Amino acid sequence: MARVQMFRWTWVCFWAAIAGLCALAATEGQQQCPPPGEISPCSCTVKKNGLDILCEFTDQQHIIDAMGKLKGKSLIIFYLKLRHNNLKKLTGFIFLGLDIRHLTIHNSSMSVVEEASLSSIGKMLTQLDVSQNSLSQIPSQAFKNLHQLLILNVNHNKVTNLHAKAFQGLDTLEILTLYENKIANIDHEAFVGLEKKLKRLNLGGNGLIKIPQKSLAILDMLKKLEMQENRISEIEEGDFEGLRNLDSLGLAHNKLRKLPAKVFSHLTLLNSLELDGNNIDTIDPEAFVGLEENLQYLRLGDNNIHTIPTDALKGLHRLRHLDLRSNNISYIAEDALAGYGDSITFLNLQKNDIRTLSGVVFENLNSLETLNLQNNKLMHIPEDVMEPVLDTLRVVDIVDNPLLCDCELQWYKNWLRNLKDKDDDLMQKKRTVCTMQHEHREYSLQSLPLDKMKCVIKSYDVGSTGGAESNRLISISATAGTIVCVLARFI
Ligand SMILES: *[C@@H]1O[C@H](CO)[C@@H](O)[C@H](O)[C@H]1NC(C)=O
Ligand SMILES: *[C@@H]1O[C@H](CO)[C@@H](O)[C@H](O)[C@H]1NC(C)=O
Repeated sequence: MARVQMFRWTWVCFWAAIAGLCALAATEGQQQCPPPGEISPCSCTVKKNGLDILCEFTDQQHIIDAMGKLKGKSLIIFYLKLRHNNLKKLTGFIFLGLDIRHLTIHNSSMSVVEEASLSSIGKMLTQLDVSQNSLSQIPSQAFKNLHQLLILNVNHNKVTNLHAKAFQGLDTLEILTLYENKIANIDHEAFVGLEKKLKRLNLGGNGLIKIPQKSLAILDMLKKLEMQENRISEIEEGDFEGLRNLDSLGLAHNKLRKLPAKVFSHLTLLNSLELDGNNIDTIDPEAFVGLEENLQYLRLGDNNIHTIPTDALKGLHRLRHLDLRSNNISYIAEDALAGYGDSITFLNLQKNDIRTLSGVVFENLNSLETLNLQNNKLMHIPEDVMEPVLDTLRVVDIVDNPLLCDCELQWYKNWLRNLKDKDDDLMQKKRTVCTMQHEHREYSLQSLPLDKMKCVIKSYDVGSTGGAESNRLISISATAGTIVCVLARFI
C-alpha cells in the first residue's frame, strides 16, 4: 500500500514538474515585440526562445536609440543582429538593462569596443560575433566579463597580433575563430584562461610563419586546430607538444616543404590531418610516428610528392581516407599500399603522372569503396589489377586518361552494370572514353564494340544471392590467367 502511494506521489510530482516547466516556458514564450515603429529602423520578430532583433544599414545614434526603447522591459533578446551599419565605436553601457543571448555586430566598420560596452550583458551572452569589422586588436577589457560565452567569432578583422592574456576571463569559451585577420605574432600567454574549455581554434587565413607552439601548448582540451592559409614554411618535432586531445589539425595551404621525423608525435589522438596545398616533397619515414592508433583521414593533395610515401604510412593501420591528388607521382610500387586491406576506403590519386599500374597494387585492399585515378597517363587498366577491388568499389573514376580501347577494359562495363543493379547512378553519369587506335576515334567504355574488337565477351551478374560465388569465379579466372566466359546466371 505504502508503495502504491509512493508511486502515486512520484507521478504527481512528475506531472507537477512538467506543468511547472510548461508554465516557465509559457512565460518565456510571452515575449512581445515593441509596437511597430518604436525601434525603427530596427525590426523585431518573436522566436521560440525570445526576440530576434535586426538593425541594418543604419548608424550609431539610431542603434543607441533603439536599444534605449528596449530597456527595462524584461525582454529576452535571443538574437540581436547589427549588420552593415556605421558603428565605428561600440560605446559604454549601450546594452545596459538588456538581456541578450546571441549578439552579432557584423560588417559595421567597428574598430573600438569600449570597456563598459559588453560587461552588462556578460551574465547572459553565450555567442558573440564581431566578424568583418576593423578591429586591430582583441578588445580584451570589453570581453573580460563575458563569463558565459561559448562562441567568439572575430573573423575578417585586422588583428595583427594576439597580446598576452587577450582572452582572459573567457573561461567558458569553447570555440574561438580568428579566420582572415593579419595575425603574425601570438604572445606565449595569448590564450591564458582558455585552457580548460577551448575545443576549437581557427587561426586560418593569417600571417603566421611558424607554429605558435608555446601559446598553444596550454590548450589541453583543444580538439580542432585550423591553421590553413598561413605562411608556415617549417614544422619541427615538439611543435604540437601539449595538444594531447587534438582530433583534427589543418595545415593546408601553407608553405611546408618537409615533414620531418616525429613532428606529430604528441598528437596521439589525432584523427584527421590536412596538409594539402603545400610544397611538400620530402616526407621522413618517421613523419607520422605517434599517429598510428587514431589517424583515419590524411590529405596530402596539391603537393610535390613523387612516390606514395609507403614507409611513412606503414604504421597507420587505421587509415581510411588517403588523398594524394595533384602530386607528381608517376609510379606506384607493388607494395605501396600493402597492409591497408582492412582500413582504406577512399584513395584519391587523381591529377598525377601515373603511367602504369602493376599487377598487385590493389591486392588485398578489400575495403576500398572509392578509387580516383582521373587525369593520369594511364593507357591500360587491366582487369587483373582491378579485380581485387571490383567487389567493394562504389566509385571508380578513370576519366581523362589516354586509355586505349582493348578487351581488358571490359571490367569497367561489367562493374558499372553491377553498380546499376545496386541502384547507384552517380557513376553512370561519368563519360569515360578510350581511343580505338586504328579508327582514330573514341568510344565510351560503356559501349565498347566488343564484337568488332573480337573480344572474348565476359559477362557476369552479381545477383543478390550469387554475388560472392560469381566473384569467386571471376577471381579464379583472373588468377589462372585465362579468359573464362561466365554466362551462367545465379539465381
Ligand atoms: C557592408 O556594409 C555596407 C554598408 O555599410 C554595404 O554597402 C556592403 O555591401 C556590406 N558588405 C557586405 C560584404 O555585406
Ligand atoms: C615531376 O617529377 C619529374 C621526375 O619524376 C620531374 O622531372 C618534374 O620536374 C617534376 N615536376 C614538378 C612540378 O616538380
